[in-house]
Amino acid sequence: MYRISELAKLVGLSRTALLYYEKLSLISAKRLENGYRVYSERDVQQVRLIQQLQKAGFTLAECKHCLESKLDKTVLRLRYNELKDEISQKERSLALLSSLLGDDTSKPWHITLSEIAPDAHIDWLKIQGFDEKQALRVKWLSKDMNEHEKYMQDFMKVFETLELWGPSSKEDTSKAYSLLTSHPAHILEIGCGKGNSTITLANLSKAKIIAIDNEQSALAQLQLKIKQHNLKDSVSTQCMSMTELNFDTDKFDVIWAEASAYIMGVEKALANWQSLLKSHGFIVFSDLVWLTDNPSQDSIEHWKNDYPDIQTINTRKSQIEQAGLELKHTFTVSEQTWQSYYVPLEKRANELASQLVNSQAISDIKNEVNLYKSRLGEFGYQFFIAQKK
Ligand SMILES: C[S@@+](CC[C@H](N)C(=O)[O-])C[C@H]1O[C@@H](n2cnc3c(N)ncnc32)[C@H](O)[C@@H]1O
Repeated sequence: MYRISELAKLVGLSRTALLYYEKLSLISAKRLENGYRVYSERDVQQVRLIQQLQKAGFTLAECKHCLESKLDKTVLRLRYNELKDEISQKERSLALLSSLLGDDTSKPWHITLSEIAPDAHIDWLKIQGFDEKQALRVKWLSKDMNEHEKYMQDFMKVFETLELWGPSSKEDTSKAYSLLTSHPAHILEIGCGKGNSTITLANLSKAKIIAIDNEQSALAQLQLKIKQHNLKDSVSTQCMSMTELNFDTDKFDVIWAEASAYIMGVEKALANWQSLLKSHGFIVFSDLVWLTDNPSQDSIEHWKNDYPDIQTINTRKSQIEQAGLELKHTFTVSEQTWQSYYVPLEKRANELASQLVNSQAISDIKNEVNLYKSRLGEFGYQFFIAQKK
């Protein structure tokens, strides 16, 4: 016979726990004349059996049920599934901790966060020490703060020699310009890159153009073009962020943004940039959209990660109206324009592949080019020409 303190020591439980077992009638003590509780060898074994059942994840109440009746396989299966879910949840927690520690990739986490809490994601990256430009690049490009620096090095190496940083062409820029109903005197171009569209606009108009981008190396290339084309008096550049445009309100007749509004989000861009426009001024922007109601699974998967805010043309149309603008025209950029973007991009990525081995940036670029080649037509860039009321 064992006193309660002896039983507690033997099975590694507290007195309180054993008293609770007794309250649930899982064990039952005999009383000595002096009132002390004593337990039999049978009670020791009963506690050990319960402890084994608890290892399968049962609560004490479930243990009791298990001891008193035949095993119910449905209940067991239910518990089994619950436990499996708990384990995979714990595995996810472990993976997240490991990625936050920098031991592992943080890509899946950044992709999720960027989709479900885009503003909080950027703010948090800034607290981690990224400036706005790099935070946006984590969001759109590397998607992995641990590998970001290496990723951007490779990414910029690919793009530094390429003229186009997005699907844009003289033909489409000219077509969009021709749809404006008045001659602009002041144009602000946002996210101009190396400025191919800037030069087209400057040649088409008599406007004063300010071209902004947050990448100084791209603006340096545009500066060279401005010199070559003798456009010093009409075109100037400024390195600044599209999220903090430092200009007077009601200043511009046209805001031009080819393949760049998505960076801060089209809806936010439309809301924020409008105040810089004179009344009846135009916002002209191009954006990646679905061109079919039934895109293939691989396109869906790809853009879910790379541009979760991709919309149909109709959704963008209603967002433009909701922003208080009037949509005047819209058209899809030509396949030729796409080719002039991704053919040189693919060539450059292939050239660098042997030099940049195991590069995530190269692999992402190649995947994207393959998707363009196989699925173009399901998605595309769409120009929107909208007027301030
Ligand atoms: C996809 S590229 C398009 C470039 C150019 N419009 C074209 O069509 O070739 C996006 C451009 O936006 C610029 N960019 C990214 N974040 C920016 C920001 N926060 N403010 C201003 N420009 C930004 C990039 O440096 C890049 O030149």
